[in-house]
Amino acid sequence: MRSLAVLTTAAAVAAAASSGNVQGVFELTPSLTPLEADAGSPDLFPMPLCKGFKLEEATIDDMQKAMAQGNLTSVDLVHCYMVRTFQTQQYINSVMEINPDALAIASQRDAERKAGKVRGPLHGIPFTVKDNIGTADNMQTTAGSWALLGSRVPRDAHVVARLRDAGAVLFGKATLSEWADMRSNNYSEGYSARGGNCRSAYNLTVNPGGSSSGSGVGVGANAIAFSLGTETDGSVINPAMRNSIVGFKPTVGLTSRGGVVPETEHQDSVGTFGRTVRDAVYAFDAIWGVDPHDNYTSAQEGHTPKPGCGGYARFLAQKTALRNATFGVPWNSFWVHAGDEQRRVLGELVELIRSAGATVVNETEITNYQTLVSPEGWNWDYGTARGFPNESEYTYVKVDFYNNIKKYLSEVNNTRVRDLEDIVQFNKDNAGSEGGYPMPDGHPAFWSGQDGFLASLATKGVQNETYFQALEFCQGSTRRGINDALNHKGRRLNGLLVPVDPGQSYQIAAQAGYPLVTIPAGIHSDSGMGFGLGIMQTAWAEAELVRWASAIEHLQHTSGTPHKRTRPTWRGYLVRNLPVPL
Ligand SMILES: *[C@@H]1O[C@H](CO)[C@@H](O)[C@H](O)[C@H]1NC(C)=O
Ligand SMILES: *[C@@H]1O[C@H](CO)[C@@H](O)[C@H](O)[C@H]1NC(C)=O
Ligand SMILES: *[C@@H]1O[C@H](CO)[C@@H](O)[C@H](O)[C@H]1NC(C)=O
Ligand SMILES: *[C@@H]1O[C@H](CO)[C@@H](O)[C@H](O)[C@H]1NC(C)=O
Ligand SMILES: *[C@@H]1O[C@H](CO)[C@@H](O)[C@H](O)[C@H]1NC(C)=O
Ligand SMILES: *[C@@H]1O[C@H](CO)[C@@H](O)[C@H](O)[C@H]1NC(C)=O
Ligand SMILES: *[C@@H]1O[C@H](CO)[C@@H](O)[C@H](O)[C@H]1NC(C)=O
Ligand SMILES: *[C@@H]1O[C@H](CO)[C@@H](O)[C@H](O)[C@H]1NC(C)=O
Ligand SMILES: *[C@@H]1O[C@H](CO)[C@@H](O)[C@H](O)[C@H]1NC(C)=O
Repeated sequence: MRSLAVLTTAAAVAAAASSGNVQGVFELTPSLTPLEADAGSPDLFPMPLCKGFKLEEATIDDMQKAMAQGNLTSVDLVHCYMVRTFQTQQYINSVMEINPDALAIASQRDAERKAGKVRGPLHGIPFTVKDNIGTADNMQTTAGSWALLGSRVPRDAHVVARLRDAGAVLFGKATLSEWADMRSNNYSEGYSARGGNCRSAYNLTVNPGGSSSGSGVGVGANAIAFSLGTETDGSVINPAMRNSIVGFKPTVGLTSRGGVVPETEHQDSVGTFGRTVRDAVYAFDAIWGVDPHDNYTSAQEGHTPKPGCGGYARFLAQKTALRNATFGVPWNSFWVHAGDEQRRVLGELVELIRSAGATVVNETEITNYQTLVSPEGWNWDYGTARGFPNESEYTYVKVDFYNNIKKYLSEVNNTRVRDLEDIVQFNKDNAGSEGGYPMPDGHPAFWSGQDGFLASLATKGVQNETYFQALEFCQGSTRRGINDALNHKGRRLNGLLVPVDPGQSYQIAAQAGYPLVTIPAGIHSDSGMGFGLGIMQTAWAEAELVRWASAIEHLQHTSGTPHKRTRPTWRGYLVRNLPVPL
C-alpha cells in the first residue's frame, strides 16, 4: 500500500502544472505504521529533482555550475524551492511569506547571465531573510507581530540591499520567534502571532531552535539555498545547530543592523545560515561592510579583507591546513556542561582534528568562568540570579530595547505603533492573538504574556549607574575571558573548540560581541535534534573562523566520520502538539 505524503495545495498543483520541468512533484512514499512514522526517515518527504538536477543538499557552487552549463535557470531554482516549500510548509512552516516578485527577479538575473553578466557566486541563488530584516518591497516586515502589519520601512535593510546587488534572489521572509524573543520569558520558540509555529524537520514535536527559527529550519530541510538571521544571544547559533547546519555569527559591527528590528545595539548581529561553510561564507561576504545607517560598522575599518581580494571566501581551507593549527579546549568553562553523549561525540571529533595534525591544548579557560558562566544553561539574567543585577546582561538589554525600538519605529511609516508603550497596548487590545496577558488570559504560545516587554517598559530606557555597570561588566569580563583563553602561555591560539549546546558558549560570545561559528557535529539520539561544534575567537577574527570551520568540515566529509551534517528525519511528523513545548 502507498500513501500520499505530500501536500496537494492548489498552489502546488498550479506550480506543477505550469512547469514541464519539475519532476516528481507528487512523490509517493511507502505508507508507514504510526510507530515507523514516529521514528522518522530522511526519505519521508523526498525532494523532487529540479529539471533533472539534484537540488537536495546541492551547494551554491553546484547550482552555479548547473546554471553555467545551461541545465538550470534561476527561475527554475525559485520554482523548485517553491515546490519544496509547498511540500513541507504545513509541517515545518519555515516561510512567513513568499516574495511575489521572486520569479520576476530571477528572470532578470537569468537575462543578465544570458547577456554575459554574472555578478558573483550568489547570482541567481534564492534566499530567505528573517522577518525582522526590513525589505522595501511587496512584502511585510513585522518581526512576526500583527502590530507592524501594513507598515512601510524606509528602505531595504543594508544586508538585503547588498544581497540584491550580489545577484541573489529574495525568495521570501522566514518565520521566527516573535520580536526575536524579546517579548516573553516563557514562550514557544519559533512561534509568532503572524507566522504561527515553525517546527523543525528533525523532530516536529520539540523546540525547533530560535529565534531565527525559519531560517535554520528552512535551510536544514532544503527548502531554501541559504538564509539570514539575527542574533542577540544565540538566535543564529541555536537554530543552526538544532537543524544540523552551519551558522555564522560575526563580530558586532561587521554586518549592519541598519533596517533590522533591534533588540540591543550592543549585541545584535546579522548572521548567515548554509548547509556548508562555503555557502554560509558566500552569504557573509555579500553582507559585511560599512553602512552609514549603523555607526557601529565603522569600527570594522582596518580589520577586514582589502577590496578586490576575494573577501573572506579566500580563507576557505582544506583539512591539510589543520597541521598548522593550535586549538584550545575550555573544558571547565563549557565542556563540563554538555551531556555525556555530546561530550563523547565532540571528543571523538576533537581526536580526529588532532589526528589530522592540529595541536589541541586542553583546559584553556575563560578567566573567571566560575562567575560568568551559568551552570544551569542559557540565562541572560544570570547576573541577577546570582544577586547582582548590575552584572547582568538582561539589565542593559531591557534598557537598550526600549530606546532602540523607538529609534527603529521613528523611520517606519503607516503604523500606529511608535514605541514600546504602543506595542504593549496593542498586545493587550489583541490578547487572543498577541498574548498581551499571561495565561489563561492570553495565548498558550506566550505563556508568560509579554513579561519581557513589561520589564523593558519599566526601565523607561533610563541608562543609570546600574545599566553602565552591567554593560561594562558583561562586555569587559567576557572579552577578557575569551582573549585570555586564546592566549596559551604567550602563544595566540587559532580558536576555542566548544560545544554550543546547551548555550553557555554562545552566551559568553554574545556578551563580548565576538564572532562564533557552529558546524554540524551530531544528533541527539533521544530527540533527533542536531548539535554543533563551535569555534570561538576574538573581535574581527572571522578569517580564522572561516579557515578552521572549513578545514574541519572538509575533514568530516573525507574521513568517514558519522559526526557531521545529516539530513532531517521528520521525527514525529504525524504529531501536532502546538504550541511546541515551551
Ligand atoms: C548538465 O546536464 C548534462 C546532461 O544531462 C549532464 O551531463 C551534466 O552533468 C549536467 N551538469 C550539471 C552541473 O549538473
Ligand atoms: C514616510 O513618511 C514621510 C513623511 O510623510 C515621507 O516623507 C516618506 O517618504 C515616507 N516613507 C515611506 C517609506 O513611505
Ligand atoms: C512556562 O509555561 C509552561 C506551560 O507551557 C508552564 O508549565 C511552566 O510552569 C511555565 N514556567 C514558568 C517558569 O512559569
Ligand atoms: C553611535 O551613535 C550613537 C548616537 O549618536 C552614540 O551614542 C554611540 O556611541 C555611537 N556608537 C558607536 C559605536 O560609535
Ligand atoms: C602553514 O603555515 C605556513 C606559514 O604561515 C604556510 O606557509 C603553510 O602553507 C601552512 N601550511 C598549511 C598546510 O596550510
Ligand atoms: C580535558 O581534560 C579533562 C579533565 O582533565 C578530561 O576529562 C578531558 O577528557 C580532556 N578533554 C580533551 C578533549 O582532551
Ligand atoms: C536603574 O534602573 C533600574 C530600573 O531600570 C533600577 O532597578 C535600578 O535600581 C536603577 N539603578 C540606580 C542606581 O538607580
Ligand atoms: C555590583 O554591585 C555590588 C554591590 O551590590 C558591588 O559589590 C559590585 O562591585 C558591583 N559590580 C560592578 C561590576 O560594579
Ligand atoms: C522528539 O524529541 C522528544 C524530546 O527529546 C522525544 O521525547 C521524542 O521521542 C522525539 N520524537 C521522536 C519521534 O523521536
